[in-house]
Amino acid sequence: MTRYYITTPIYYVKDAPHVGHAYSTVNADALARWHRLIGDDVFFLTGTDEHGQKVARAADEQGLTPIEWTDELAPRFAAAWSDLNIANDDFIRTTEPRHHQAVQRFLGRINDNGYIVKDTYSGLYCVSCEQYYAEDELIDGTRCPIHRTPAEHLEEENYFFRLSAFEQQLIEWYEANPTAVVPESKRNEALSFIKGGLRDISITRTSIDWGVRVPWDEAHVFYVWYDALINYLTAIGYGQDDVRFEQWWPVVHHLIGKEIIRFHCVWWPAMCMAAGIDPPAHVQVHGWLLLGGEKMSNSSVNQISPAELIEEYGVDPVRYHLLRDVPLGSDGEFSAEGITSRYNTDLANNLGNLLSRVTTVVGSKCGGAGPAPRSDSRLASVAGVVLAEVTEAWNAGQPNLALEATWRLIRETNAELETAEPWKAEPGPEVDAVLGSALEVLRIVSILIVPAMPATADAIWRRIGLEGLPADQRVPEAVGWGRYPAGRPVEKGSPLFPRRKV
Ligand code: MSP
Repeated sequence: MTRYYITTPIYYVKDAPHVGHAYSTVNADALARWHRLIGDDVFFLTGTDEHGQKVARAADEQGLTPIEWTDELAPRFAAAWSDLNIANDDFIRTTEPRHHQAVQRFLGRINDNGYIVKDTYSGLYCVSCEQYYAEDELIDGTRCPIHRTPAEHLEEENYFFRLSAFEQQLIEWYEANPTAVVPESKRNEALSFIKGGLRDISITRTSIDWGVRVPWDEAHVFYVWYDALINYLTAIGYGQDDVRFEQWWPVVHHLIGKEIIRFHCVWWPAMCMAAGIDPPAHVQVHGWLLLGGEKMSNSSVNQISPAELIEEYGVDPVRYHLLRDVPLGSDGEFSAEGITSRYNTDLANNLGNLLSRVTTVVGSKCGGAGPAPRSDSRLASVAGVVLAEVTEAWNAGQPNLALEATWRLIRETNAELETAEPWKAEPGPEVDAVLGSALEVLRIVSILIVPAMPATADAIWRRIGLEGLPADQRVPEAVGWGRYPAGRPVEKGSPLFPRRKV
Protein backbone atom coordinates (compact mmCIF):
# COMPACT_ATOMS: atom_id res chain seq x y z
CA MET A 1 0.00 0.00 0.00
CA THR A 2 1.22 3.48 -0.83
CA ARG A 3 1.82 5.66 2.19
CA TYR A 4 1.04 9.34 1.97
CA TYR A 5 2.20 11.55 4.83
CA ILE A 6 1.13 15.18 4.43
CA THR A 7 1.89 18.11 6.71
CA THR A 8 0.98 21.78 7.00
CA PRO A 9 3.39 24.21 8.61
CA ILE A 10 2.61 24.44 12.30
CA TYR A 11 1.05 27.82 12.96
CA TYR A 12 2.35 30.42 15.38
CA VAL A 13 -0.15 30.96 18.15
CA LYS A 14 0.43 34.66 18.16
CA ASP A 15 -3.19 35.40 17.48
CA ALA A 16 -6.34 33.63 16.26
CA PRO A 17 -6.20 31.79 12.90
CA HIS A 18 -7.01 33.72 9.72
CA VAL A 19 -8.01 32.67 6.24
CA GLY A 20 -4.35 32.69 5.10
CA HIS A 21 -3.70 29.83 7.55
CA ALA A 22 -6.90 28.17 6.36
CA TYR A 23 -5.57 28.25 2.79
CA SER A 24 -2.67 25.93 3.68
CA THR A 25 -4.80 23.69 5.86
CA VAL A 26 -7.67 23.29 3.38
CA ASN A 27 -5.25 22.42 0.58
CA ALA A 28 -3.52 19.82 2.72
CA ASP A 29 -6.88 18.40 3.79
CA ALA A 30 -8.07 18.13 0.20
CA LEU A 31 -4.88 16.34 -0.83
CA ALA A 32 -5.17 13.99 2.15
CA ARG A 33 -8.78 13.22 1.27
CA TRP A 34 -7.85 12.56 -2.37
CA HIS A 35 -5.18 10.12 -1.32
CA ARG A 36 -7.61 8.33 1.00
CA LEU A 37 -10.00 8.10 -1.94
CA ILE A 38 -7.42 6.36 -4.10
CA GLY A 39 -6.75 3.91 -1.29
CA ASP A 40 -3.45 5.25 0.06
CA ASP A 41 -2.61 4.88 3.71
CA VAL A 42 -2.73 8.53 4.76
CA PHE A 43 -1.38 10.41 7.75
CA PHE A 44 -2.25 14.09 7.86
CA LEU A 45 -0.57 16.29 10.44
CA THR A 46 -1.14 19.88 11.45
CA GLY A 47 -0.58 21.76 14.70
CA THR A 48 0.75 24.81 16.49
CA ASP A 49 4.19 26.33 16.90
CA GLU A 50 4.17 27.66 20.43
CA HIS A 51 7.71 28.66 21.41
CA GLY A 52 9.87 31.63 20.51
CA GLN A 53 9.96 35.32 21.20
CA LYS A 54 7.02 36.20 19.02
CA VAL A 55 4.61 34.04 21.02
CA ALA A 56 6.18 35.02 24.36
CA ARG A 57 5.68 38.71 23.52
CA ALA A 58 2.10 38.17 22.43
CA ALA A 59 1.41 36.45 25.78
CA ASP A 60 3.07 39.26 27.66
CA GLU A 61 0.93 41.84 25.89
CA GLN A 62 -2.11 39.95 27.19
CA GLY A 63 -0.70 39.83 30.72
CA LEU A 64 -0.46 36.05 30.54
CA THR A 65 2.36 33.54 30.84
CA PRO A 66 3.30 31.94 27.51
CA ILE A 67 1.71 28.62 28.39
CA GLU A 68 -1.50 30.27 29.59
CA TRP A 69 -1.67 32.06 26.25
CA THR A 70 -0.88 29.05 24.07
CA ASP A 71 -3.31 26.87 26.06
CA GLU A 72 -5.97 29.37 25.16
CA LEU A 73 -5.02 29.77 21.49
CA ALA A 74 -4.10 26.25 20.36
CA PRO A 75 -7.69 25.02 20.83
CA ARG A 76 -8.87 27.94 18.69
CA PHE A 77 -6.80 26.62 15.81
CA ALA A 78 -8.15 23.11 16.39
CA ALA A 79 -11.70 24.51 16.48
CA ALA A 80 -11.20 26.51 13.28
CA TRP A 81 -10.04 23.34 11.52
CA SER A 82 -12.95 21.37 12.84
CA ASP A 83 -15.32 24.13 11.59
CA LEU A 84 -13.71 23.83 8.16
CA ASN A 85 -14.23 20.06 8.20
CA ILE A 86 -10.49 19.34 8.27
CA ALA A 87 -9.82 15.64 8.84
CA ASN A 88 -6.31 15.72 10.31
CA ASP A 89 -5.04 12.54 11.94
CA ASP A 90 -3.04 14.35 14.60
CA PHE A 91 -2.70 17.86 15.98
CA ILE A 92 0.71 18.55 17.41
CA ARG A 93 1.53 21.28 19.91
CA THR A 94 5.23 21.97 20.31
CA THR A 95 4.75 22.43 24.06
CA GLU A 96 3.84 18.75 24.45
CA PRO A 97 6.33 16.49 26.26
CA ARG A 98 6.47 14.12 23.27
CA HIS A 99 7.82 16.99 21.18
CA HIS A 100 10.37 18.17 23.74
CA GLN A 101 11.69 14.61 23.92
CA ALA A 102 11.94 14.24 20.14
CA VAL A 103 13.71 17.61 19.78
CA GLN A 104 16.23 16.75 22.46
CA ARG A 105 16.92 13.37 20.88
CA PHE A 106 17.20 14.70 17.34
CA LEU A 107 19.44 17.65 18.20
CA GLY A 108 21.39 15.45 20.60
CA ARG A 109 22.16 13.23 17.61
CA ILE A 110 23.32 16.22 15.56
CA ASN A 111 25.50 17.31 18.47
CA ASP A 112 26.96 13.81 18.87
CA ASN A 113 27.69 13.81 15.15
CA GLY A 114 29.82 16.93 15.61
CA TYR A 115 27.65 19.44 13.73
CA ILE A 116 26.93 21.75 16.65
CA VAL A 117 29.55 24.23 17.95
CA LYS A 118 29.56 27.16 20.41
CA ASP A 119 30.27 30.71 19.13
CA THR A 120 29.23 34.35 19.47
CA TYR A 121 26.80 35.89 17.08
CA SER A 122 25.59 39.39 16.56
CA GLY A 123 23.17 40.45 13.92
CA LEU A 124 19.88 42.00 12.91
CA TYR A 125 16.88 39.94 13.97
CA CYS A 126 13.20 40.18 13.01
CA VAL A 127 11.10 38.89 15.88
CA SER A 128 8.02 38.41 13.67
CA CYS A 129 10.03 36.12 11.35
CA GLU A 130 12.10 34.72 14.22
CA GLN A 131 15.07 35.03 11.90
CA TYR A 132 18.39 36.88 11.54
CA TYR A 133 18.85 38.88 8.34
CA ALA A 134 21.99 40.08 6.61
CA GLU A 135 21.99 43.85 6.11
CA ASP A 136 21.63 43.55 2.35
CA GLU A 137 18.46 41.49 2.78
CA LEU A 138 16.73 44.25 4.75
CA ILE A 139 14.83 47.19 3.26
CA ASP A 140 17.23 50.15 3.50
CA GLY A 141 19.50 47.88 5.54
CA THR A 142 17.18 48.20 8.55
CA ARG A 143 13.66 46.89 7.97
CA CYS A 144 12.34 43.33 7.57
CA PRO A 145 11.50 42.57 3.90
CA ILE A 146 8.31 40.76 4.92
CA HIS A 147 6.98 42.74 7.88
CA ARG A 148 8.61 46.07 7.05
CA THR A 149 9.27 46.63 10.75
CA PRO A 150 12.77 47.53 12.04
CA ALA A 151 15.03 44.52 12.71
CA GLU A 152 16.56 44.46 16.20
CA HIS A 153 20.24 44.18 16.99
CA LEU A 154 20.99 40.98 18.96
CA GLU A 155 24.28 39.65 20.29
CA GLU A 156 24.46 36.26 21.94
CA GLU A 157 26.81 33.44 22.74
CA ASN A 158 25.05 30.55 21.15
CA TYR A 159 25.33 27.10 19.81
CA PHE A 160 25.60 26.99 16.05
CA PHE A 161 24.54 24.37 13.56
CA ARG A 162 27.29 23.87 10.98
CA LEU A 163 25.02 24.41 8.00
CA SER A 164 28.04 25.39 5.90
CA ALA A 165 29.30 21.79 6.11
CA PHE A 166 26.27 20.68 4.04
CA GLU A 167 26.58 22.96 1.06
CA GLN A 168 27.93 20.33 -1.30
CA GLN A 169 25.68 17.54 -0.01
CA LEU A 170 22.60 19.73 -0.44
CA ILE A 171 23.54 20.61 -4.00
CA GLU A 172 24.01 16.91 -4.76
CA TRP A 173 20.67 16.11 -3.13
CA TYR A 174 18.88 18.71 -5.27
CA GLU A 175 20.53 17.37 -8.39
CA ALA A 176 19.64 13.77 -7.59
CA ASN A 177 16.04 14.70 -6.66
CA PRO A 178 14.87 17.21 -9.27
CA THR A 179 11.23 17.12 -8.14
CA ALA A 180 11.77 17.08 -4.37
CA VAL A 181 10.86 20.76 -4.23
CA VAL A 182 8.04 22.02 -6.46
CA PRO A 183 7.27 24.23 -8.31
CA GLU A 184 10.54 24.41 -10.18
CA SER A 185 10.89 28.16 -9.65
CA LYS A 186 10.96 27.58 -5.89
CA ARG A 187 13.41 24.73 -6.24
CA ASN A 188 15.69 27.06 -8.18
CA GLU A 189 15.30 29.73 -5.54
CA ALA A 190 16.42 27.32 -2.80
CA LEU A 191 19.23 25.90 -4.89
CA SER A 192 20.65 29.28 -5.80
CA PHE A 193 20.53 30.31 -2.15
CA ILE A 194 22.62 27.22 -1.35
CA LYS A 195 25.01 27.86 -4.20
CA GLY A 196 25.45 31.43 -2.96
CA GLY A 197 27.19 29.99 0.11
CA LEU A 198 25.76 28.90 3.45
CA ARG A 199 26.60 30.36 6.84
CA ASP A 200 26.34 28.47 10.10
CA ILE A 201 23.16 29.21 12.02
CA SER A 202 22.67 30.14 15.61
CA ILE A 203 20.27 27.57 17.05
CA THR A 204 19.99 28.39 20.75
CA ARG A 205 19.07 31.36 22.91
CA THR A 206 19.90 32.35 26.47
CA SER A 207 17.87 35.58 26.36
CA ILE A 208 14.58 33.73 26.80
CA ASP A 209 13.62 30.52 28.53
CA TRP A 210 10.41 29.85 26.61
CA GLY A 211 11.50 26.91 24.49
CA VAL A 212 12.93 23.40 24.51
CA ARG A 213 15.95 23.09 26.86
CA VAL A 214 19.26 22.18 25.28
CA PRO A 215 19.91 18.79 26.90
CA TRP A 216 23.68 19.26 27.23
CA ASP A 217 23.56 22.91 28.44
CA GLU A 218 20.55 23.87 30.55
CA ALA A 219 21.23 27.61 30.28
CA HIS A 220 20.09 27.50 26.64
CA VAL A 221 16.82 26.84 24.87
CA PHE A 222 16.63 25.94 21.19
CA TYR A 223 15.75 28.65 18.74
CA VAL A 224 12.09 28.27 17.82
CA TRP A 225 12.59 27.25 14.18
CA TYR A 226 15.00 24.58 15.29
CA ASP A 227 12.42 22.97 17.49
CA ALA A 228 9.47 23.62 15.16
CA LEU A 229 10.73 21.73 12.11
CA ILE A 230 11.19 18.61 14.21
CA ASN A 231 7.41 18.43 14.79
CA TYR A 232 7.22 16.52 11.52
CA LEU A 233 9.26 13.75 13.14
CA THR A 234 7.73 13.88 16.61
CA ALA A 235 4.28 13.01 15.33
CA ILE A 236 5.46 9.83 13.61
CA GLY A 237 7.32 8.50 16.60
CA TYR A 238 10.92 9.67 16.05
CA GLY A 239 13.14 8.17 18.74
CA GLN A 240 10.17 6.43 20.33
CA ASP A 241 8.69 4.02 17.85
CA ASP A 242 11.18 3.12 15.15
CA VAL A 243 8.82 0.88 13.21
CA ARG A 244 6.23 3.63 12.92
CA PHE A 245 8.85 6.22 12.11
CA GLU A 246 10.23 4.17 9.26
CA GLN A 247 6.75 3.65 7.81
CA TRP A 248 6.21 7.38 7.38
CA TRP A 249 9.66 8.81 6.81
CA PRO A 250 10.96 10.06 4.39
CA VAL A 251 7.83 9.67 2.21
CA VAL A 252 6.46 12.98 3.42
CA HIS A 253 4.79 15.85 1.55
CA HIS A 254 5.42 19.14 3.27
CA LEU A 255 3.02 21.80 2.07
CA ILE A 256 4.44 25.24 2.92
CA GLY A 257 4.02 28.92 2.16
CA LYS A 258 6.69 30.60 0.04
CA GLU A 259 8.04 32.72 2.91
CA ILE A 260 9.42 29.66 4.69
CA ILE A 261 11.36 28.06 1.83
CA ARG A 262 14.74 28.68 3.39
CA PHE A 263 13.81 26.78 6.53
CA HIS A 264 12.20 23.84 4.77
CA CYS A 265 14.34 23.57 1.66
CA VAL A 266 17.79 24.45 3.02
CA TRP A 267 17.96 24.05 6.79
CA TRP A 268 15.61 21.13 7.17
CA PRO A 269 17.21 18.74 4.65
CA ALA A 270 20.62 19.65 6.10
CA MET A 271 19.41 18.98 9.64
CA CYS A 272 18.11 15.59 8.55
CA MET A 273 21.45 14.79 6.92
CA ALA A 274 23.29 15.87 10.08
CA ALA A 275 21.11 13.63 12.24
CA GLY A 276 21.65 10.69 9.89
CA ILE A 277 18.13 10.42 8.41
CA ASP A 278 16.94 11.02 4.85
CA PRO A 279 15.74 14.50 3.92
CA PRO A 280 11.99 14.93 3.27
CA ALA A 281 10.96 13.44 -0.06
CA HIS A 282 8.62 16.28 -1.18
CA VAL A 283 8.16 19.93 -0.42
CA GLN A 284 5.37 21.73 -2.26
CA VAL A 285 5.50 25.50 -2.03
CA HIS A 286 2.39 27.64 -2.34
CA GLY A 287 1.81 31.36 -2.70
CA TRP A 288 -0.09 33.82 -0.57
CA LEU A 289 -3.66 34.75 -0.16
CA LEU A 290 -3.69 38.49 -0.53
CA LEU A 291 -6.12 41.05 0.75
CA GLY A 292 -5.89 44.43 -0.93
CA GLY A 293 -2.64 43.28 -2.56
CA GLU A 294 -0.94 42.43 0.76
CA LYS A 295 -0.31 39.03 2.36
CA MET A 296 -3.08 38.29 4.83
CA SER A 297 -1.24 38.11 8.14
CA ASN A 298 -1.44 38.46 11.91
CA SER A 299 0.90 41.40 11.93
CA SER A 300 -1.42 43.53 9.85
CA VAL A 301 -5.01 44.59 10.09
CA ASN A 302 -6.01 42.78 6.91
CA GLN A 303 -7.13 39.49 8.35
CA ILE A 304 -10.41 37.65 8.03
CA SER A 305 -11.28 34.74 10.30
CA PRO A 306 -12.42 31.43 8.83
CA ALA A 307 -15.50 31.62 11.10
CA GLU A 308 -16.65 34.90 9.52
CA LEU A 309 -16.45 33.42 6.04
CA ILE A 310 -18.15 30.17 7.00
CA GLU A 311 -20.98 32.09 8.56
CA GLU A 312 -21.44 34.11 5.40
CA TYR A 313 -20.96 31.45 2.69
CA GLY A 314 -21.00 28.00 4.31
CA VAL A 315 -18.09 25.60 4.81
CA ASP A 316 -17.94 23.94 1.41
CA PRO A 317 -18.17 27.16 -0.65
CA VAL A 318 -15.22 28.54 1.35
CA ARG A 319 -13.20 25.37 0.81
CA TYR A 320 -14.12 25.34 -2.87
CA HIS A 321 -13.13 28.96 -3.38
CA LEU A 322 -9.73 28.51 -1.71
CA LEU A 323 -8.99 25.42 -3.78
CA ARG A 324 -10.42 26.60 -7.08
CA ASP A 325 -9.39 30.23 -7.24
CA VAL A 326 -5.85 30.36 -5.89
CA PRO A 327 -3.75 27.77 -7.78
CA LEU A 328 -1.13 26.18 -5.54
CA GLY A 329 2.10 27.99 -6.32
CA SER A 330 0.58 31.39 -7.20
CA ASP A 331 -0.61 34.32 -5.13
CA GLY A 332 -4.31 35.12 -5.26
CA GLU A 333 -6.40 38.03 -4.15
CA PHE A 334 -9.22 37.31 -1.75
CA SER A 335 -12.38 39.34 -2.32
CA ALA A 336 -16.06 39.09 -1.51
CA GLU A 337 -16.83 39.59 -5.22
CA GLY A 338 -14.50 36.71 -6.15
CA ILE A 339 -16.03 34.21 -3.76
CA THR A 340 -19.59 35.31 -4.59
CA SER A 341 -19.12 35.01 -8.31
CA ARG A 342 -17.50 31.59 -7.99
CA TYR A 343 -20.36 30.53 -5.73
CA ASN A 344 -23.04 31.71 -8.15
CA THR A 345 -21.50 30.22 -11.29
CA ASP A 346 -19.98 26.92 -10.20
CA LEU A 347 -22.07 26.03 -7.18
CA ALA A 348 -25.51 27.57 -7.69
CA ASN A 349 -25.77 27.59 -11.52
CA ASN A 350 -23.79 24.47 -12.39
CA LEU A 351 -23.74 21.88 -9.62
CA GLY A 352 -26.79 22.99 -7.62
CA ASN A 353 -28.85 23.46 -10.75
CA LEU A 354 -27.91 20.05 -12.13
CA LEU A 355 -28.96 18.36 -8.91
CA SER A 356 -32.24 20.21 -8.59
CA ARG A 357 -33.20 19.72 -12.25
CA VAL A 358 -32.48 16.03 -12.21
CA THR A 359 -34.17 15.33 -8.89
CA THR A 360 -37.23 17.40 -9.86
CA VAL A 361 -37.70 15.71 -13.22
CA VAL A 362 -37.10 12.24 -11.78
CA GLY A 363 -39.93 13.13 -9.40
CA SER A 364 -42.32 14.26 -12.13
CA LYS A 365 -41.47 11.79 -14.91
CA CYS A 366 -40.18 8.66 -13.16
CA GLY A 367 -42.25 8.57 -9.99
CA GLY A 368 -39.20 9.54 -7.92
CA ALA A 369 -37.25 6.34 -8.70
CA GLY A 370 -33.90 6.94 -10.41
CA PRO A 371 -33.56 5.22 -13.81
CA ALA A 372 -30.41 3.41 -14.98
CA PRO A 373 -27.73 5.24 -17.00
CA ARG A 374 -27.23 4.50 -20.68
CA SER A 375 -23.98 2.70 -21.40
CA ASP A 376 -23.50 4.49 -24.74
CA SER A 377 -24.19 7.98 -23.40
CA ARG A 378 -21.87 10.68 -24.76
CA LEU A 379 -21.37 11.65 -21.12
CA ALA A 380 -19.65 8.32 -20.47
CA SER A 381 -16.73 9.33 -22.65
CA VAL A 382 -16.64 12.86 -21.22
CA ALA A 383 -16.51 11.31 -17.74
CA GLY A 384 -13.62 9.05 -18.79
CA VAL A 385 -11.54 11.96 -20.08
CA VAL A 386 -12.38 14.10 -17.04
CA LEU A 387 -11.44 11.31 -14.66
CA ALA A 388 -8.00 10.99 -16.21
CA GLU A 389 -7.43 14.74 -15.89
CA VAL A 390 -8.77 14.89 -12.36
CA THR A 391 -6.51 12.05 -11.28
CA GLU A 392 -3.46 13.62 -12.83
CA ALA A 393 -4.19 17.00 -11.29
CA TRP A 394 -4.82 15.78 -7.73
CA ASN A 395 -1.77 13.53 -7.91
CA ALA A 396 0.31 16.49 -9.02
CA GLY A 397 -1.03 18.61 -6.15
CA GLN A 398 -3.10 20.93 -8.38
CA PRO A 399 -6.59 21.11 -6.89
CA ASN A 400 -7.69 24.01 -9.11
CA LEU A 401 -7.10 21.95 -12.27
CA ALA A 402 -8.83 18.92 -10.77
CA LEU A 403 -11.90 21.02 -9.97
CA GLU A 404 -11.87 22.76 -13.30
CA ALA A 405 -12.00 19.36 -15.03
CA THR A 406 -14.73 18.08 -12.69
CA TRP A 407 -16.86 21.12 -13.49
CA ARG A 408 -16.50 20.49 -17.20
CA LEU A 409 -18.36 17.23 -16.70
CA ILE A 410 -21.07 19.07 -14.75
CA ARG A 411 -21.46 21.73 -17.45
CA GLU A 412 -21.57 19.15 -20.25
CA THR A 413 -24.32 17.31 -18.40
CA ASN A 414 -26.36 20.48 -17.98
CA ALA A 415 -25.91 21.18 -21.69
CA GLU A 416 -27.08 17.66 -22.54
CA LEU A 417 -30.20 18.17 -20.43
CA GLU A 418 -30.91 21.49 -22.10
CA THR A 419 -30.79 19.79 -25.49
CA ALA A 420 -32.89 16.79 -24.51
CA GLU A 421 -35.36 18.81 -22.37
CA PRO A 422 -36.67 15.77 -20.49
CA TRP A 423 -38.97 18.07 -18.49
CA LYS A 424 -40.99 18.67 -21.67
CA ALA A 425 -40.96 15.09 -22.98
CA GLU A 426 -43.40 12.26 -22.36
CA PRO A 427 -42.21 9.72 -19.76
CA GLY A 428 -40.59 6.72 -21.41
CA PRO A 429 -37.25 5.05 -22.22
CA GLU A 430 -35.74 8.20 -23.81
CA VAL A 431 -36.41 10.32 -20.75
CA ASP A 432 -35.20 7.52 -18.48
CA ALA A 433 -31.94 7.23 -20.38
CA VAL A 434 -31.22 10.95 -20.21
CA LEU A 435 -32.02 11.18 -16.51
CA GLY A 436 -30.21 7.94 -15.69
CA SER A 437 -27.05 9.28 -17.30
CA ALA A 438 -27.38 12.58 -15.44
CA LEU A 439 -27.80 10.66 -12.17
CA GLU A 440 -24.70 8.66 -13.01
CA VAL A 441 -22.78 11.91 -13.49
CA LEU A 442 -24.02 13.13 -10.12
CA ARG A 443 -22.85 9.87 -8.55
CA ILE A 444 -19.39 10.19 -10.12
CA VAL A 445 -19.17 13.89 -9.30
CA SER A 446 -20.07 13.30 -5.68
CA ILE A 447 -17.08 10.97 -5.40
CA LEU A 448 -14.77 13.35 -7.24
CA ILE A 449 -15.69 16.31 -5.02
CA VAL A 450 -15.03 14.46 -1.75
CA PRO A 451 -11.58 16.10 -1.38
CA ALA A 452 -12.91 19.63 -1.90
CA MET A 453 -16.46 19.54 -0.55
CA PRO A 454 -16.99 16.47 1.62
CA ALA A 455 -20.33 17.54 3.11
CA THR A 456 -21.78 18.43 -0.30
CA ALA A 457 -20.61 15.07 -1.63
CA ASP A 458 -22.55 13.33 1.16
CA ALA A 459 -25.65 15.44 0.55
CA ILE A 460 -25.77 14.67 -3.19
CA TRP A 461 -25.09 10.99 -2.57
CA ARG A 462 -28.08 10.80 -0.22
CA ARG A 463 -30.40 12.82 -2.47
CA ILE A 464 -29.87 10.46 -5.38
CA GLY A 465 -30.70 7.53 -3.12
CA LEU A 466 -27.28 5.91 -2.71
CA GLU A 467 -26.20 4.00 0.36
CA GLY A 468 -22.95 4.25 2.28
CA LEU A 469 -20.68 7.28 1.87
CA PRO A 470 -18.94 8.70 -1.19
CA ALA A 471 -15.70 8.98 0.81
CA ASP A 472 -15.73 5.20 1.26
CA GLN A 473 -15.71 4.60 -2.50
CA ARG A 474 -12.39 3.83 -4.18
CA VAL A 475 -11.08 5.62 -7.25
CA PRO A 476 -10.75 4.54 -10.03
CA GLU A 477 -13.00 1.44 -9.62
CA ALA A 478 -16.01 3.29 -8.23
CA VAL A 479 -16.01 6.02 -10.86
CA GLY A 480 -16.25 3.69 -13.85
CA TRP A 481 -19.37 4.51 -15.92
CA GLY A 482 -22.65 2.67 -15.34
CA ARG A 483 -22.78 1.90 -11.64
CA TYR A 484 -25.78 3.98 -10.70
CA PRO A 485 -28.33 1.33 -9.65
CA ALA A 486 -31.83 1.83 -11.06
CA GLY A 487 -34.82 2.16 -8.78
CA ARG A 488 -33.38 4.20 -5.92
CA PRO A 489 -35.56 6.82 -4.27
CA VAL A 490 -34.48 10.23 -5.50
CA GLU A 491 -35.34 13.16 -3.28
CA LYS A 492 -35.90 16.70 -4.50
CA GLY A 493 -35.07 18.65 -1.31
CA SER A 494 -34.23 22.33 -1.07
CA PRO A 495 -31.49 23.95 -3.20
CA LEU A 496 -27.96 23.08 -1.97
CA PHE A 497 -26.62 26.48 -3.04
CA PRO A 498 -29.28 29.20 -3.21
CA ARG A 499 -28.08 32.00 -5.49
CA ARG A 500 -26.41 34.91 -3.71
CA LYS A 501 -26.98 38.56 -4.48
CA VAL A 502 -23.95 40.17 -6.10
N1 MSP B 1 5.49 28.62 12.65
C1 MSP B 1 6.02 28.80 11.35
C2 MSP B 1 6.03 27.51 10.57
C3 MSP B 1 6.81 26.40 11.21
S1 MSP B 1 6.72 24.92 10.29
C4 MSP B 1 7.84 23.93 10.98
C5 MSP B 1 5.17 29.82 10.60
N2 MSP B 1 3.95 30.02 11.08
S2 MSP B 1 2.87 31.05 10.48
O1 MSP B 1 1.71 30.91 11.29
O2 MSP B 1 3.44 32.36 10.39
O3 MSP B 1 2.59 30.65 9.01
C6 MSP B 1 2.43 29.30 8.68
C7 MSP B 1 1.89 29.10 7.31
O4 MSP B 1 0.59 29.69 7.18
C8 MSP B 1 2.63 29.71 6.13
O5 MSP B 1 3.74 29.05 5.69
C9 MSP B 1 1.59 29.54 5.08
O6 MSP B 1 1.58 28.19 4.70
C10 MSP B 1 0.32 29.87 5.84
N3 MSP B 1 -0.08 31.24 5.64
C11 MSP B 1 -0.08 32.27 6.54
N4 MSP B 1 -0.55 33.39 5.93
C12 MSP B 1 -0.87 33.09 4.64
C13 MSP B 1 -1.44 33.77 3.56
N5 MSP B 1 -1.80 35.04 3.65
N6 MSP B 1 -1.64 33.07 2.43
C14 MSP B 1 -1.34 31.73 2.30
N7 MSP B 1 -0.79 31.07 3.28
C15 MSP B 1 -0.52 31.71 4.44
O7 MSP B 1 5.65 30.36 9.62
